[in-house]
Parts: sequence; structure tokens; C-alpha cells
Amino acid sequence: MNVAILTGGGDCPGLNAVIRAIVRKGIGDYGWELTGIRMGWRGLLEKDTCPLDLEAVSGILPVGGTILGTSRTNPSKIEGGPETAVKNFAELGIDGLIAIGGDDTLGVAKRLYDEQGVHVVGVPKTIDNDLSGTDYTFGFDTAVSIATDAIDRLHTTAASHHRVMVVEVMGRHAGWIALMSGLAGGADVILLPEFPMTVEDVCDLIESRAARGKPFSVVCVSEGAKILWRSGEQKEVVASAEVDAFGHVRLGGVGSFLAREIKRVTGREVRETTLGYIQRGGTPTAHDRILGTRFGVKAAEMVAAGEWGMMAGLKGDEIVSVPLAEAVSTWKLVPQDMWELAQVFFG
Ligand code: F6P
Repeated sequence: MNVAILTGGGDCPGLNAVIRAIVRKGIGDYGWELTGIRMGWRGLLEKDTCPLDLEAVSGILPVGGTILGTSRTNPSKIEGGPETAVKNFAELGIDGLIAIGGDDTLGVAKRLYDEQGVHVVGVPKTIDNDLSGTDYTFGFDTAVSIATDAIDRLHTTAASHHRVMVVEVMGRHAGWIALMSGLAGGADVILLPEFPMTVEDVCDLIESRAARGKPFSVVCVSEGAKILWRSGEQKEVVASAEVDAFGHVRLGGVGSFLAREIKRVTGREVRETTLGYIQRGGTPTAHDRILGTRFGVKAAEMVAAGEWGMMAGLKGDEIVSVPLAEAVSTWKLVPQDMWELAQVFFG
């Protein structure tokens, strides 16, 4: 059997752990031939492939990024794209494909399965942790660890200068990274896309801290959070209004905007830090290496069992098969009870 692997969407710590696990399980237990598809769905459209043998995956477990490369190519946005993908799948002699990605990549996988009958299995990847069908995605733990470390560092400089430090973290639709790193790092205010807060409420929390002898604050904001004022006015800050092949604008800049607003309202000294791609790069945590490894082995087992149109997911401490349809149906957003937990520590 010839099994192909592709990684799509934003890169993410732990991708190589998944690739290695599939190859080790596939060769060791099933005697498969494995083919790497380079640069996400673009590689399938261009027949850009490489063999994946034991040597190819040796030493990659702790390495960030993806040895296969990745892209945000969407075959559905290319004239004849889905048909070319199906044709190339057959011409390359591929029997099954494991697509490792977030909602965009897995959305393409689902369509190819539903509409063209392509033999595909999914693995959930995203630092944002916003995919349904799994309790956690790999890469998230690494991003939270990096952001927590940054918040710890910003705390000491905030305290030394009596400043307000605004830190912007990733999280397009869901504020999981801001929530978890803010909780772990003891941020004084956390802003999420799911639960908009007004600028005035943020400033009141900063002032109430100052009134009890804490003339410094750390504010953690998700890149997807909207700016809101008590007047009811709202603003979405974007780095570029240009959209990618999946219709997403490039986010970034909400931290700077919020910092300016806090300075305007409170008159305090405010600084901002945007963590950006630092959260996605570098070596995965032990947790993400293990989760990626478990997902990879499960995906190989699912291919062996012919569980097409399904995705490996984490439910509790079990790795299970869930329909791709479930994974891409809705965003997994921060629930009300977690928001209430975070608010206990505000101000
Ligand atoms: O989906 C993961 C993510 O890192 C988001 O948090 C972020 O908005 C987006 O990818 C950035 O995408 P790109 O790599 O295309 O700039």
C-alpha cells in the first residue's frame, strides 16, 4: 500500500512528530511505502512528492516546523483544482492520504472525500486549539508555554517600571492561547474574541490594581479580539485586509491599538509586545511530541482499517476516530465557565 502524507495551513510544533509516527508505524507494522506531499495541497496539484523512509524521519521528533513544507493552497479556489487533485492521487499510485492540518486543510480533505471519494484520514493541527472533534490539538501546548514564558518576563519589567504591558498572542477565532497563557502567567486582564470587553472596563481594572498598591499591569490580548467602547462603538484591527485562499484576513495590531487606547484613557505609561510567529516556531514541548505521536500512530491504524473521511481526535485521554464533518462543523470556542474562571483573577 502507498500512503501519502501532507501538512497544510500554518506550521505548528509537533508536525514532524506526527510524520515520524505515521512512517514508523506504517513501515514497521504494515510494510507500507510512504510518500510525502510537499507544500500542502499545492504539492498534490503539482505532483511535488518525496519518498518517506525511516532515514527521512530520523532525528525529526524535536524539530519544529514540517519537513514536508506547508502552504495555504485551497484546491477549490483553483480552476479544476479538485479534479486535478483526484487525477494526481491516482497517477501517483496513492492508496490513502493522511492530511495533517486545521479547519481549512481538513475542510478540503472532507470535500475531497465527500465529493470525489478520495481515501483520506485527518490529523488535527493548530496552535489555536479551535478545532472541534478533539479536546486538544498538538502545537497548542507549545504556543501556550512560549506565551506564558513571555508573560512571566513582561511581568518583571512591568513591575520595575510601573508600566502597563500589553501582550498580543495568536488566536484568530478562539482565545484559547490568550486564556491559558494569561491564566498560567497571571495576566491582570485577558481579552478574547469570544467575550468582548470595553476599553473603559480594561482601564478600570488597571486603576483598581493601582489603587491597591500595584502600579503595573499585564494585559494579554488575543489577535482576534475586537476593540469595544462603552459607547457601543467597535473596531476589528487587522494587519492587512487582503484575504488568503480560505478567505482569512491577516490579523495583528490589536495589541498596539489597545495599548494606545489604555494610554489615552489612563495617562499611564504603556508598552506593547506582539509575540506573533515566535509562538509557532521552534521545538515542541514533550506534551505536543507525545500527542502528535499518538495522533500519527492512530492515523496509520485508521488507514489500515479503511476509516476514510475520519480524523484522529483526543477525547479525555483516549485517541479516537471522529468524522471529519464533526471537526470542521463549528469552531471550538472558549466556554462561559472558563471565561468566568479567568475573570476571578482580573484586576
Ligand atoms: O491558524 C494559526 C495561526 O497561527 C493563527 O493564529 C494566525 O492568525 C494565522 O495562523 C496566521 O496565518 P499566516 O501564517 O498565514 O500568517
